[in-house]
Amino acid sequence: MQHRSAWKNRWTFMLATAGSAIGLGNIWKLPYMIGMNGGSAFVLLFIACVFFVGIPLMMTEILLGRRAQKNPLNGIESLAIEANISPRWKYIGGMGMLTGLLILSFYSVIGGWVLSFITSAAMGSFTGITAAESTANFERLLASPITLLFWHSVFMVMTMSVVAHGVNSGLERANNILIPALFVILLILLGYSMSVGDMKTAFSFMFNPDFSKITPIVVLSALGHAFFSLSLGMGSVMVYGSYLQRNVSIARTTICIALLDTMLGLLVGLAIYSLVFANQLAPNAGPGLIFQTLPIAFGHMPSGNFIATLFFMLVAFAAWTSAISLAEPTIAWVVENTKISRKTASTLSGLAIWLVGVSVVLSFNEWQDIKIVFGLNIFETLDKLTSTILLPLGGLLMAVFAGYFMHKKHVHEELNLSNNAFRLWQFTNNYISPIAIIAVFLYLFGLVK
Ligand code: PFF
Repeated sequence: MQHRSAWKNRWTFMLATAGSAIGLGNIWKLPYMIGMNGGSAFVLLFIACVFFVGIPLMMTEILLGRRAQKNPLNGIESLAIEANISPRWKYIGGMGMLTGLLILSFYSVIGGWVLSFITSAAMGSFTGITAAESTANFERLLASPITLLFWHSVFMVMTMSVVAHGVNSGLERANNILIPALFVILLILLGYSMSVGDMKTAFSFMFNPDFSKITPIVVLSALGHAFFSLSLGMGSVMVYGSYLQRNVSIARTTICIALLDTMLGLLVGLAIYSLVFANQLAPNAGPGLIFQTLPIAFGHMPSGNFIATLFFMLVAFAAWTSAISLAEPTIAWVVENTKISRKTASTLSGLAIWLVGVSVVLSFNEWQDIKIVFGLNIFETLDKLTSTILLPLGGLLMAVFAGYFMHKKHVHEELNLSNNAFRLWQFTNNYISPIAIIAVFLYLFGLVK
């Protein structure tokens, strides 16, 4: 067994896990999901899912990782042996690894869009841009497979070269500066949106609850997005937890990360919708939403090109740290189980993911008419399959495993909570999360109409 690296302290673990959680899910995906799923109805359900399912499950994943001190697959296997149940539970870890790689294949393509926007911003292309020009710009990018492929490749190389060196070396220091920087720049953007946008309409769109818009699909999307946004259900948080020292409080750290992650997403949403409504843009524009609206804001503010360059650089960084955590469970498994080196494992899996990513690139142009299931193209299929099925399924199995099969004493030791707090965790982990996820699945598979 090779020597396992570890985080320096609670801060570095927290920043790394926050770095995994904060990414395109908050800045790119949440805003357009809100617009496509009835605004405030989605926001309300999303917040409820973060609190009642996300937070307890993040605690579960960290405790599994720290107890096992191994990658998710071997970790769950040894915990199952310790609990005298079938080692086949390890396949939860296997499924998580596959899920991570599938997500990474499209995540890297969107990360590529962000990289391309850094260069557009730096070249001053947003100056004085109108809403129509901004939409045309974005459509031009999507229509060019070569450009998309180039940036997707750059993003993949960036990601896998960090993974190849081991996640806890350089990341710790970078996270320390860049996550706070992302918040600062977001506040500038928010201030600007407040002064020129339509914050009042944006606020009521996002927070004035309209219960009539709650449909099963909206519930499903909100639950799926809570998993995606908090990096849950596939072992990323578990593998980071496995590098965590014993004396750190899991509950406190989890709450900080979840609050930070959710707040950031909602702030981006407010900034965007304030601009959307002020410029008569469509809230349900889909995945292109931020790429069409933000240039308009940056293009009209003082030093806009500079701020835009900085903003997209920080988004790229946030995406990068998340992408690394998507690959880490698989690479940790290969390194801990085979003679293949970290470098070779990273290169080979990087190539495989890149190849799947090529089909995602093409699904935005040449192959956009190819539908896989339910009229969804390749990108949409991968996105829906992972967010609404695989991540919640992984989460459900982990919650059941920790709640019903692990020795209660071990769970108690890891969480180290007061009796009441422990009971609260147990109630949400053992009942609320599984029931919510199973209910959503029953609907999804048509068993409940
Ligand atoms: N949480 C990341 C985001 O919001 O962008 C995406 C992600 C990372 C999902 C790691 C799942 C994961 F395991």
